[in-house]
Amino acid sequence: MVEVFATKEAVLDAAAERFVLSSSESIRLSGRFAVALSGGSTPQGLYHRLAAEPFRTRVEWPRVHAFWGDERCVPPDDPASNYRMAWQALLEHVPIPSEHIHRIRGEAKPVPAAEEYERTLRQFFGAPEGPPAPRHGARFDLVLLGLGPDGHTASLFPGDPAVLEVERWVLAVEAPILPPRRVTLTPVVLRAARQVMFLVFGKEKAPALRHALAADIPAGRDPARAVLPSSGSVRWLVDRAAAASLPGGDPGSA
Ligand code: 6PG
Repeated sequence: MVEVFATKEAVLDAAAERFVLSSSESIRLSGRFAVALSGGSTPQGLYHRLAAEPFRTRVEWPRVHAFWGDERCVPPDDPASNYRMAWQALLEHVPIPSEHIHRIRGEAKPVPAAEEYERTLRQFFGAPEGPPAPRHGARFDLVLLGLGPDGHTASLFPGDPAVLEVERWVLAVEAPILPPRRVTLTPVVLRAARQVMFLVFGKEKAPALRHALAADIPAGRDPARAVLPSSGSVRWLVDRAAAASLPGGDPGSA
């Protein structure tokens, strides 16, 4: 489902509300909330909202487990680190236990870091092999994702073989943009999520959004289409500028 909002601020307010509802529903169903956070600049405003009232106290932080959809291979205190951004904007301000923060080790060599993160995820979700099972507690409750102007999501880039991965949950990849060395979750684990929520704003992302949502264009190796949930739900929260190229133009603002 696609929801179009007049402004970026309205997208972020709606995303914070969705995050709160998803967390309480997941905690009711499985006793915990496993969320994959996204990087880049888009989710920063969401993280700031969640760290402050009225949202902060509506989330049961001691039951939240934070993971990342991707990480740049840089130390955790580097300005490009996705962990650092989420820590500074959100995690250091809320009572989430430190052992519930499952970061990707960007400072390690990419291949071992990816293998280590896959072990962490498989152990957490109780899946020694195969894809995550479609039941509560065995898959991500919520995956947050952004969309690059080139159509990448997490660190899955158009045309990269990682987009077509069918076994591994985490891979080291070379990105065509800076920083190039990255570790990313693959569609195997992302598309198994109970809920996927994309946040997209800005007119430079309009063509990528149109492509990601176009049923008339073959999916090919389109990253956003590769991660669409197999048995969960997907929600696109976008602003009017990003929605400008959708068929019929702006489908109406929420
Ligand atoms: C990353 C991301 C990436 C991001 C998009 C959008 O680490 O780069 O996780 O997939 O979500 O590139 O980035 P912006 O929000 O900066 O436009």
